[in-house]
Amino acid sequence: MIIKTANFIKSSAIYTQCPEMNMPEFAFIGRSNVGKSSLINAITNHKKLAKTSGTPGKTQLINHFLINEEWYLVDLPGYGFAKISKKMRAEWQIMIADYLYNRESLMNTFILIDSRIKPQKLDLDLIANYGENGLPFTLVFTKTDKLKDNILAKNIAAYKKTLLEDWEELPHIIITSSVDKRGTKELLDYIEAATPLFHKTSEEIKG
Ligand code: GTP
Ligand code: MG
Repeated sequence: MIIKTANFIKSSAIYTQCPEMNMPEFAFIGRSNVGKSSLINAITNHKKLAKTSGTPGKTQLINHFLINEEWYLVDLPGYGFAKISKKMRAEWQIMIADYLYNRESLMNTFILIDSRIKPQKLDLDLIANYGENGLPFTLVFTKTDKLKDNILAKNIAAYKKTLLEDWEELPHIIITSSVDKRGTKELLDYIEAATPLFHKTSEEIKG
């Protein structure tokens, strides 16, 4: 897919403020600092489309970007950073759950995982939640440029092994880096393949 246009549309504090559900939508979720905003910039070839930062918790709202006037890319606020109050954590959970369960145009969520670290409970809980609720998702490993190939392979194998303790089948996995752009084409191809399903579903609804 060629990215012709990528425009920030709006930030929403609650799903009811999100744009009309008239286009297919793809969301990026994951712990704070995992590289969601960076990967959005990498796949759209825009250095500053989504705000990135070394300080966790940069993205606090649901951010909609319109790509090629055809589909939305959504940058969701990260979870799991240390300096967060219980109240903020509870608010995050409600905000995200409301968005995920009500956003009928959401075609897929990319769950981002830092390829450098061992499987984390917060991420595994999130993945389990998607599974239990039948929400479609893809696992995306980030920051792979920071690892040697053999270590990366070892980490991913270990992650798969952990997943297979709870899952019969592995989810779709994409291996990425925002620095050397590894996996960005695969991610866009995946999105491109999924967008026609939205129009098909809308036509069925309309009859
Ligand atoms: P929140 O908005 O806080 O939830 O974080 P985020 O997931 O959007 O992370 P962000 O894209 O802001 O990246 C966090 C830090 O990791 C930044 O300093 C990025 O430059 C760095 N980073 C992100 N992706 C990569 C990558 O693929 N490789 C390398 N080497 N660094 C990366
Ligand atoms: Mg961000």
